Amino acid sequence: MKISIVQFEPVFKDKKINFDRIFNYSKDIISDIIVFPELALSGYYFLSRDEVSDMAESITGDFIKDLQELSSSQNKIIVLGFPEKEKNNLYNSAAIILPDKKKTSIYRKTHLFYKERFCFDYGNTGFFVIDYPEWDIKIGPMICYDWRFPEAARSLALQGADLIVCPSNLVTNSWQNALATRALENNVYVAVANRTGKEIRGEEELVFNGDSTIYNYNGDILCRAGKINDEIIETEIYPRETRKKSFNQFNDIFSDRMPEMYKL
Ligand code: ACM
Repeated sequence: MKISIVQFEPVFKDKKINFDRIFNYSKDIISDIIVFPELALSGYYFLSRDEVSDMAESITGDFIKDLQELSSSQNKIIVLGFPEKEKNNLYNSAAIILPDKKKTSIYRKTHLFYKERFCFDYGNTGFFVIDYPEWDIKIGPMICYDWRFPEAARSLALQGADLIVCPSNLVTNSWQNALATRALENNVYVAVANRTGKEIRGEEELVFNGDSTIYNYNGDILCRAGKINDEIIETEIYPRETRKKSFNQFNDIFSDRMPEMYKL
């Protein structure tokens, strides 16, 4: 099965341009799974709830509907970040759009980074896995700063994820080794879709570092984008291969766990 990451620079607060790019990439890329960055629809650096509210989309809106139709007609999984509005709540969310509409899911970011806490509500979905037996794959979503919490990837892996998808807007260079480790310690593929470019608000500038990466389940890099340019990276993955958690005749990284010894 082929997976692609689209690394690009969304235009802040221009949903039309961003949506057209997301839609066209999704239509034109020949791949089974296509992953876009966090808040790909809107850009990132919001400073207030009012700003987010102006950009936020309901999951019943046209934007999801159009991508759903594309996913179903072209038999592709599309993953992307967007600002979500649900009644008075605002979430930094990822849509995991599956060809079978009933399986399409929304993950709402659990760990809010920097000033996101002033703009978004804390996600209430928790970490969950989407089982797609039609393709024999289980996909676990998380978003960007969730990477700093090993519990996130572990929760997904313990629920059976073969592939962790991580739409991101990463502004440090601390995550590359950590996410290789998340892949290795859980024996799962990890696909990190980061963005590029910068956003300037007042005196402050956020620079997004690219480096989008698909990690093999042993932590090796299968493919990685550069730091600056828009880029599509892609590779083949074999989800079933992640399910054997033993690495010699005595050790198995899941059955060797000792939860009663951990204080979490
Ligand atoms: C981040 O969570 N956008 C770093």
